[in-house]
Amino acid sequence: MAFGNFYSASCLILLLLSLSWRTSTALPVRTGLSGEKCADSSLLFEKLLQNITALLNDTELFHRIDTDAAVVISQAETVLACAPTQNSTCMMQRNSTFSESECLGNIMKDLVYYSAVIQSYTNSNLRLPETEVPLLNSTLEIIRSLRKSCSLMPNGENNIPEDVGAPKWENSSYENRQQMFKMMKGFQVRTITINRALGYISSGDHRK
Ligand SMILES: *[C@@H]1O[C@H](CO)[C@@H](O)[C@H](O)[C@H]1NC(C)=O
Ligand SMILES: *[C@@H]1O[C@H](CO)[C@@H](O)[C@H](O)[C@H]1NC(C)=O
Ligand SMILES: *[C@@H]1O[C@H](CO)[C@@H](O)[C@H](O)[C@H]1NC(C)=O
Ligand SMILES: *[C@@H]1O[C@H](CO)[C@@H](O)[C@H](O)[C@H]1NC(C)=O
Ligand SMILES: *[C@@H]1O[C@H](CO)[C@@H](O)[C@H](O)[C@H]1NC(C)=O
Ligand SMILES: *[C@@H]1O[C@H](CO)[C@@H](O)[C@H](O)[C@H]1NC(C)=O
Repeated sequence: MAFGNFYSASCLILLLLSLSWRTSTALPVRTGLSGEKCADSSLLFEKLLQNITALLNDTELFHRIDTDAAVVISQAETVLACAPTQNSTCMMQRNSTFSESECLGNIMKDLVYYSAVIQSYTNSNLRLPETEVPLLNSTLEIIRSLRKSCSLMPNGENNIPEDVGAPKWENSSYENRQQMFKMMKGFQVRTITINRALGYISSGDHRK
C-alpha cells in the first residue's frame, strides 16, 4: 500500500515533467536557492487555485456560457494527459528520475503562458470591462508575485520568452468567454497538479 501511494505520487510528477510542456527538454533551467523559494510559495499557489476557482464560478465573467464544455487548448490538453489514471503512459515514464529544477521550470512556463492568456483577454472585446478587468487583474497580481518569488535564475531573472502564443480573441465576446472558460478550466487543472507537485517536492520524497 505504501508502495502504491509512493508510486502514484512519483508517477504523477514524472508525467508532469515529461508531458507538461512540449519544449521542456530544450530549455536549460537552473535553480539554486530560488527553486526552494518557489516551493515555499505553496501558500500563494493555493491562493491562486482558490482565485481561479472563484473566477470560474463568476457569473459576470462567464455569463451564459456552457460550463460543461471540454477543457481545451494546447498546453492545457497535456494536463489531462497527466492524470494519474493513465497508467500506460506512466509505465513508460517511470524509469526517469525526478528533476526538481525541471519541474519548477515547467511550472514557471505555465505561469508565463497563462498570464499571457489572461492579459490578452483583458484587452479583448469584453462584455463588461469595468467588472471583468479588475477580477482578472487580481489573478494576474497573484501570478506576478509568484513569478517574482519563483524566478529561476540565481540573480532573480528568468529567460523565458514572453511570446508564448496567447490566443487570438475573436470579435464576439460570447465566443471569447467560452474559450476563456475552457482555458481557465485548464489553468485550474494545471494549478491542482502544481500544488501536488510542490507538496511532493517539499515532502523531500524524491531526495530519498
Ligand atoms: C483574487 O485575489 C484577489 C487578491 O487576493 C482578491 O482581491 C480577489 O477578490 C480574488 N478574486 C477572486 C475571484 O477570488
Ligand atoms: C458559486 O457561486 C454560487 C453563488 O453564485 C455559490 O452558491 C457557490 O457556493 C459557488 N461555488 C463555489 C465552488 O464557489
Ligand atoms: C491502470 O492500472 C490498474 C491496475 O494497476 C488497472 O486496474 C486499470 O485498469 C488501469 N487503467 C488503465 C486505463 O489502463
Ligand atoms: C526501465 O528499467 C528496466 C529495468 O530496471 C529496463 O529493463 C527497461 O528497459 C527500462 N525502460 C526504459 C524505457 O528505460
Ligand atoms: C489592470 O492592470 C493593468 C496593468 O497592471 C492596469 O493598467 C489597469 O489599470 C488595471 N485595471 C483595473 C480596472 O484594475
Ligand atoms: C472583427 O472585426 C473587424 C473590424 O471590425 C473585422 O475587420 C474582422 O473581419 C472581424 N473578424 C471576425 C473574425 O469577425
